[in-house]
Amino acid sequence: MSASHLKILATGGTIAGIAGSAIRHDYRPGQIDIEDYLEKVGGLGLEAEFSGTQIANIGSEDIGPDVWIRLHEEIASALDDADCHGIIVTHGTDTLEETAFLLDLTLPMTKPVVLVGAMRPADAVGYDGLRNFANAVRVASDPEAAGRGVLVVMGDRVFAARDVRKVRTRGTDAFRGFPRDSIGLVTPSALDWFGAPWRSGEAACFDFGTALPEVVILYVFAGMTPEIATRQVSGQTRGVVVAGVGEGNVPDPVRQELVRMRQDGLPVIRSSRTDEGLVDREPEDDTNGFVAARTLNPQKSRILLQLLLAAGETDAGRIQAEFDRR
Ligand code: SIN
Repeated sequence: MSASHLKILATGGTIAGIAGSAIRHDYRPGQIDIEDYLEKVGGLGLEAEFSGTQIANIGSEDIGPDVWIRLHEEIASALDDADCHGIIVTHGTDTLEETAFLLDLTLPMTKPVVLVGAMRPADAVGYDGLRNFANAVRVASDPEAAGRGVLVVMGDRVFAARDVRKVRTRGTDAFRGFPRDSIGLVTPSALDWFGAPWRSGEAACFDFGTALPEVVILYVFAGMTPEIATRQVSGQTRGVVVAGVGEGNVPDPVRQELVRMRQDGLPVIRSSRTDEGLVDREPEDDTNGFVAARTLNPQKSRILLQLLLAAGETDAGRIQAEFDRR
Protein backbone atom coordinates (compact mmCIF):
# COMPACT_ATOMS: atom_id res chain seq x y z
CA MET A 1 0.00 0.00 0.00
CA SER A 2 1.47 3.42 -0.92
CA ALA A 3 1.60 6.15 1.73
CA SER A 4 -1.53 8.27 2.14
CA HIS A 5 -1.26 12.04 1.78
CA LEU A 6 -3.14 13.59 4.65
CA LYS A 7 -4.00 17.21 5.32
CA ILE A 8 -3.67 18.13 9.01
CA LEU A 9 -5.61 21.17 10.23
CA ALA A 10 -4.63 22.19 13.75
CA THR A 11 -6.84 24.23 16.06
CA GLY A 12 -5.17 23.74 19.48
CA GLY A 13 -6.63 22.05 22.56
CA THR A 14 -4.98 19.67 25.01
CA ILE A 15 -3.50 17.59 22.20
CA ALA A 16 -1.25 20.63 21.66
CA GLY A 17 -1.15 21.57 25.36
CA ILE A 18 1.78 21.94 27.76
CA ALA A 19 1.83 21.66 31.56
CA GLY A 20 5.52 22.37 32.14
CA SER A 21 5.66 19.19 34.26
CA ALA A 22 4.85 15.51 33.74
CA ILE A 23 2.52 15.40 36.75
CA ARG A 24 0.76 18.75 37.11
CA HIS A 25 -3.00 18.82 36.68
CA ASP A 26 -3.26 22.36 35.32
CA TYR A 27 -1.85 23.18 31.88
CA ARG A 28 -2.27 25.51 28.92
CA PRO A 29 -4.02 24.12 25.81
CA GLY A 30 -2.90 25.15 22.31
CA GLN A 31 0.84 25.64 22.90
CA ILE A 32 2.54 23.42 20.30
CA ASP A 33 2.31 24.55 16.70
CA ILE A 34 1.57 22.14 13.90
CA GLU A 35 5.11 22.09 12.43
CA ASP A 36 6.56 21.03 15.81
CA TYR A 37 3.75 18.56 16.31
CA LEU A 38 4.40 16.90 12.95
CA GLU A 39 8.07 16.64 13.87
CA LYS A 40 7.08 14.62 16.98
CA VAL A 41 4.75 12.49 14.83
CA GLY A 42 7.65 11.85 12.42
CA GLY A 43 9.25 9.60 15.06
CA LEU A 44 6.30 7.18 15.01
CA GLY A 45 7.10 5.70 11.59
CA LEU A 46 3.55 6.07 10.28
CA GLU A 47 2.93 5.19 6.63
CA ALA A 48 1.56 8.58 5.64
CA GLU A 49 2.74 11.95 4.41
CA PHE A 50 1.45 15.09 6.05
CA SER A 51 0.93 18.70 5.19
CA GLY A 52 -0.07 20.84 8.13
CA THR A 53 -1.96 24.12 8.46
CA GLN A 54 -2.46 26.05 11.68
CA ILE A 55 -6.06 27.27 11.75
CA ALA A 56 -5.89 28.43 15.38
CA ASN A 57 -4.05 27.45 18.56
CA ILE A 58 -6.66 27.88 21.27
CA GLY A 59 -8.68 26.02 23.86
CA SER A 60 -11.84 24.70 22.24
CA GLU A 61 -14.03 26.75 24.59
CA ASP A 62 -13.00 29.66 22.32
CA ILE A 63 -13.90 27.91 19.08
CA GLY A 64 -16.93 29.23 17.23
CA PRO A 65 -18.10 30.47 13.84
CA ASP A 66 -14.84 32.23 12.82
CA VAL A 67 -12.78 29.05 13.23
CA TRP A 68 -15.57 26.93 11.74
CA ILE A 69 -15.68 29.06 8.58
CA ARG A 70 -11.91 28.83 8.14
CA LEU A 71 -11.89 25.07 8.83
CA HIS A 72 -14.74 24.50 6.42
CA GLU A 73 -12.95 26.39 3.63
CA GLU A 74 -9.69 24.48 4.19
CA ILE A 75 -11.43 21.10 4.25
CA ALA A 76 -13.48 21.92 1.15
CA SER A 77 -10.28 22.76 -0.73
CA ALA A 78 -8.58 19.55 0.51
CA LEU A 79 -11.60 17.56 -0.71
CA ASP A 80 -11.06 19.09 -4.15
CA ASP A 81 -7.32 18.33 -4.13
CA ALA A 82 -6.73 15.08 -6.02
CA ASP A 83 -3.45 14.52 -4.13
CA CYS A 84 -5.12 14.55 -0.71
CA HIS A 85 -6.54 11.24 0.59
CA GLY A 86 -7.97 12.38 3.91
CA ILE A 87 -8.18 15.22 6.42
CA ILE A 88 -7.40 15.22 10.15
CA VAL A 89 -8.46 18.10 12.42
CA THR A 90 -6.72 18.35 15.79
CA HIS A 91 -9.10 19.95 18.30
CA GLY A 92 -9.76 20.48 22.00
CA THR A 93 -12.13 17.90 23.41
CA ASP A 94 -14.55 20.30 25.12
CA THR A 95 -16.44 21.42 22.00
CA LEU A 96 -15.14 18.78 19.60
CA GLU A 97 -18.62 17.27 19.22
CA GLU A 98 -20.06 20.58 18.03
CA THR A 99 -17.37 21.20 15.42
CA ALA A 100 -17.65 17.58 14.24
CA PHE A 101 -21.44 17.78 13.87
CA LEU A 102 -21.33 21.13 12.06
CA LEU A 103 -18.79 19.74 9.56
CA ASP A 104 -20.82 16.53 9.24
CA LEU A 105 -23.86 18.51 8.13
CA THR A 106 -22.02 20.85 5.77
CA LEU A 107 -19.45 18.71 3.92
CA PRO A 108 -19.89 16.16 1.13
CA MET A 109 -18.92 12.60 2.10
CA THR A 110 -16.16 12.08 -0.46
CA LYS A 111 -13.00 11.61 1.64
CA PRO A 112 -12.30 10.70 5.26
CA VAL A 113 -12.58 13.67 7.64
CA VAL A 114 -11.43 12.81 11.18
CA LEU A 115 -11.32 14.93 14.33
CA VAL A 116 -8.94 13.98 17.11
CA GLY A 117 -7.96 15.36 20.52
CA ALA A 118 -6.33 14.33 23.77
CA MET A 119 -7.23 14.38 27.45
CA ARG A 120 -3.67 14.89 28.70
CA PRO A 121 -1.19 17.59 27.66
CA ALA A 122 1.81 16.67 25.53
CA ASP A 123 4.38 16.69 28.37
CA ALA A 124 2.19 14.72 30.83
CA VAL A 125 3.00 11.18 31.86
CA GLY A 126 0.68 8.94 29.81
CA TYR A 127 0.06 11.57 27.07
CA ASP A 128 -2.72 10.10 24.89
CA GLY A 129 -2.36 12.59 22.02
CA LEU A 130 0.21 10.74 19.93
CA ARG A 131 -1.67 7.46 20.24
CA ASN A 132 -4.94 9.15 19.26
CA PHE A 133 -3.19 10.91 16.37
CA ALA A 134 -1.66 7.65 15.10
CA ASN A 135 -5.13 6.07 15.29
CA ALA A 136 -6.61 9.02 13.41
CA VAL A 137 -4.00 8.50 10.67
CA ARG A 138 -5.08 4.87 10.39
CA VAL A 139 -8.74 5.93 10.01
CA ALA A 140 -8.10 8.86 7.64
CA SER A 141 -6.03 6.58 5.38
CA ASP A 142 -8.92 4.15 4.94
CA PRO A 143 -11.12 5.00 1.90
CA GLU A 144 -13.99 3.16 3.68
CA ALA A 145 -14.03 5.90 6.32
CA ALA A 146 -15.41 8.42 3.81
CA GLY A 147 -18.91 6.94 3.69
CA ARG A 148 -19.51 7.22 7.42
CA GLY A 149 -19.68 10.98 7.79
CA VAL A 150 -17.26 13.07 9.80
CA LEU A 151 -15.56 10.88 12.41
CA VAL A 152 -14.06 11.37 15.85
CA VAL A 153 -11.18 9.19 17.06
CA MET A 154 -10.53 9.03 20.80
CA GLY A 155 -9.25 6.27 23.06
CA ASP A 156 -8.90 3.52 20.38
CA ARG A 157 -12.50 4.04 19.31
CA VAL A 158 -14.12 5.62 16.27
CA PHE A 159 -17.38 7.56 16.64
CA ALA A 160 -19.73 9.13 14.11
CA ALA A 161 -20.01 12.91 14.59
CA ARG A 162 -23.78 12.49 14.82
CA ASP A 163 -23.49 10.33 17.95
CA VAL A 164 -20.35 11.40 19.77
CA ARG A 165 -20.42 13.26 23.08
CA LYS A 166 -17.88 14.08 25.76
CA VAL A 167 -19.05 12.37 28.95
CA ARG A 168 -16.09 12.70 31.34
CA THR A 169 -13.59 15.35 32.33
CA ARG A 170 -10.93 12.91 33.61
CA GLY A 171 -9.31 9.84 32.11
CA THR A 172 -8.63 9.01 28.48
CA ASP A 173 -11.94 7.17 27.95
CA ALA A 174 -13.90 10.41 27.90
CA PHE A 175 -16.19 9.95 24.89
CA ARG A 176 -19.26 7.90 24.20
CA GLY A 177 -21.75 7.67 21.36
CA PHE A 178 -25.53 7.90 21.60
CA PRO A 179 -27.75 6.37 20.28
CA ARG A 180 -24.95 4.32 18.65
CA ASP A 181 -21.79 3.85 20.64
CA SER A 182 -18.50 3.56 18.72
CA ILE A 183 -18.75 2.45 15.09
CA GLY A 184 -15.22 1.04 14.94
CA LEU A 185 -12.16 0.04 16.93
CA VAL A 186 -8.73 1.30 15.94
CA THR A 187 -5.07 0.97 16.83
CA PRO A 188 -2.18 2.47 14.82
CA SER A 189 -1.99 -0.79 12.82
CA ALA A 190 -5.54 -2.22 12.83
CA LEU A 191 -8.99 -0.88 12.05
CA ASP A 192 -12.24 -2.79 12.49
CA TRP A 193 -15.52 -1.24 11.38
CA PHE A 194 -18.84 -2.38 12.80
CA GLY A 195 -20.91 -2.47 9.62
CA ALA A 196 -20.62 -1.08 6.10
CA PRO A 197 -20.45 2.62 5.13
CA TRP A 198 -23.95 4.09 4.80
CA ARG A 199 -23.33 7.62 3.49
CA SER A 200 -20.88 7.10 0.60
CA GLY A 201 -20.91 9.97 -1.90
CA GLU A 202 -23.62 11.88 -0.01
CA ALA A 203 -23.73 15.61 -0.82
CA ALA A 204 -23.48 18.31 1.86
CA CYS A 205 -26.83 18.59 3.71
CA PHE A 206 -26.47 22.37 4.27
CA ASP A 207 -24.51 25.29 2.85
CA PHE A 208 -22.13 26.96 5.23
CA GLY A 209 -19.80 29.89 4.92
CA THR A 210 -21.37 32.80 6.73
CA ALA A 211 -22.22 33.68 10.32
CA LEU A 212 -25.01 31.59 11.85
CA PRO A 213 -28.22 33.03 13.39
CA GLU A 214 -28.35 33.34 17.19
CA VAL A 215 -29.93 30.37 18.91
CA VAL A 216 -29.95 30.19 22.72
CA ILE A 217 -29.95 27.08 24.90
CA LEU A 218 -32.24 27.41 27.95
CA TYR A 219 -31.06 25.03 30.68
CA VAL A 220 -34.07 23.90 32.73
CA PHE A 221 -33.90 23.21 36.48
CA ALA A 222 -36.30 22.66 39.37
CA GLY A 223 -37.83 25.99 40.30
CA MET A 224 -37.07 27.73 36.96
CA THR A 225 -39.34 30.72 36.35
CA PRO A 226 -40.52 32.23 33.02
CA GLU A 227 -38.60 35.44 33.85
CA ILE A 228 -35.32 33.50 33.90
CA ALA A 229 -36.12 32.14 30.43
CA THR A 230 -37.17 35.56 29.07
CA ARG A 231 -33.97 37.26 30.26
CA GLN A 232 -31.88 34.98 28.04
CA VAL A 233 -33.76 35.81 24.83
CA SER A 234 -33.04 39.12 23.10
CA GLY A 235 -34.10 40.88 19.91
CA GLN A 236 -31.18 39.12 18.15
CA THR A 237 -32.41 35.63 19.06
CA ARG A 238 -33.80 33.58 16.15
CA GLY A 239 -34.46 30.27 17.88
CA VAL A 240 -34.55 28.51 21.25
CA VAL A 241 -33.32 25.07 22.31
CA VAL A 242 -34.60 23.87 25.66
CA ALA A 243 -32.32 21.55 27.64
CA GLY A 244 -35.33 20.17 29.45
CA VAL A 245 -35.52 17.83 32.41
CA GLY A 246 -36.12 14.15 31.62
CA GLU A 247 -37.74 13.80 28.20
CA GLY A 248 -37.50 17.52 27.44
CA ASN A 249 -39.95 18.67 30.11
CA VAL A 250 -40.25 22.22 31.49
CA PRO A 251 -42.24 23.77 34.38
CA ASP A 252 -45.68 24.80 33.11
CA PRO A 253 -45.17 28.60 33.51
CA VAL A 254 -41.96 28.25 31.44
CA ARG A 255 -43.88 26.23 28.83
CA GLN A 256 -46.39 29.06 28.55
CA GLU A 257 -43.55 31.53 28.01
CA LEU A 258 -42.06 29.28 25.34
CA VAL A 259 -45.43 29.14 23.58
CA ARG A 260 -45.41 32.94 23.55
CA MET A 261 -41.89 32.94 22.05
CA ARG A 262 -43.06 30.48 19.41
CA GLN A 263 -46.01 32.74 18.60
CA ASP A 264 -43.49 35.57 18.19
CA GLY A 265 -41.84 33.48 15.46
CA LEU A 266 -39.03 31.70 17.32
CA PRO A 267 -38.74 27.94 16.66
CA VAL A 268 -38.58 26.07 20.00
CA ILE A 269 -36.77 22.70 20.21
CA ARG A 270 -37.32 20.42 23.21
CA SER A 271 -34.16 18.44 23.99
CA SER A 272 -33.01 16.75 27.20
CA ARG A 273 -30.38 17.68 29.76
CA THR A 274 -29.89 13.97 30.58
CA ASP A 275 -26.80 12.14 29.28
CA GLU A 276 -28.70 9.84 26.97
CA GLY A 277 -31.88 11.76 26.29
CA LEU A 278 -34.30 10.63 23.59
CA VAL A 279 -37.07 13.21 23.30
CA ASP A 280 -40.05 12.01 21.29
CA ARG A 281 -42.93 14.15 20.10
CA GLU A 282 -45.88 14.28 22.45
CA PRO A 283 -49.44 15.36 21.54
CA GLU A 284 -49.01 18.78 23.23
CA ASP A 285 -46.17 19.62 20.82
CA ASP A 286 -48.80 20.14 18.11
CA THR A 287 -50.73 22.73 20.15
CA ASN A 288 -47.56 24.32 21.57
CA GLY A 289 -45.84 24.44 18.17
CA PHE A 290 -42.69 22.78 19.58
CA VAL A 291 -40.17 20.45 17.92
CA ALA A 292 -38.79 17.29 19.63
CA ALA A 293 -35.00 16.94 19.37
CA ARG A 294 -35.11 13.11 19.24
CA THR A 295 -31.57 11.88 20.06
CA LEU A 296 -29.69 15.15 19.50
CA ASN A 297 -28.37 16.73 22.69
CA PRO A 298 -28.91 20.48 23.28
CA GLN A 299 -25.60 21.61 21.76
CA LYS A 300 -26.10 19.56 18.59
CA SER A 301 -29.77 20.59 18.38
CA ARG A 302 -28.57 24.17 18.44
CA ILE A 303 -26.25 23.62 15.46
CA LEU A 304 -28.92 21.88 13.39
CA LEU A 305 -31.42 24.66 14.14
CA GLN A 306 -28.86 27.35 13.24
CA LEU A 307 -28.21 25.71 9.86
CA LEU A 308 -31.95 25.34 9.22
CA LEU A 309 -32.58 28.99 10.11
CA ALA A 310 -29.64 30.07 7.92
CA ALA A 311 -31.35 28.19 5.07
CA GLY A 312 -34.53 30.21 5.74
CA GLU A 313 -36.49 27.42 7.46
CA THR A 314 -38.81 28.39 10.34
CA ASP A 315 -41.74 26.00 9.84
CA ALA A 316 -42.07 23.69 12.89
CA GLY A 317 -43.25 20.72 10.81
CA ARG A 318 -40.35 20.87 8.38
CA ILE A 319 -37.87 21.49 11.22
CA GLN A 320 -39.29 18.41 12.99
CA ALA A 321 -38.76 16.37 9.82
CA GLU A 322 -35.05 17.37 9.84
CA PHE A 323 -34.65 16.38 13.49
CA ASP A 324 -36.40 13.07 12.74
CA ARG A 325 -33.98 12.14 9.96
CA ARG A 326 -30.67 13.09 11.63
C1 SIN B 1 -10.04 22.12 25.11
O1 SIN B 1 -11.14 21.66 24.77
O2 SIN B 1 -9.39 22.88 24.38
C2 SIN B 1 -9.45 21.79 26.44
C3 SIN B 1 -9.74 20.40 26.88
C4 SIN B 1 -9.20 19.32 25.98
O3 SIN B 1 -8.74 19.52 24.87
O4 SIN B 1 -9.26 18.16 26.44
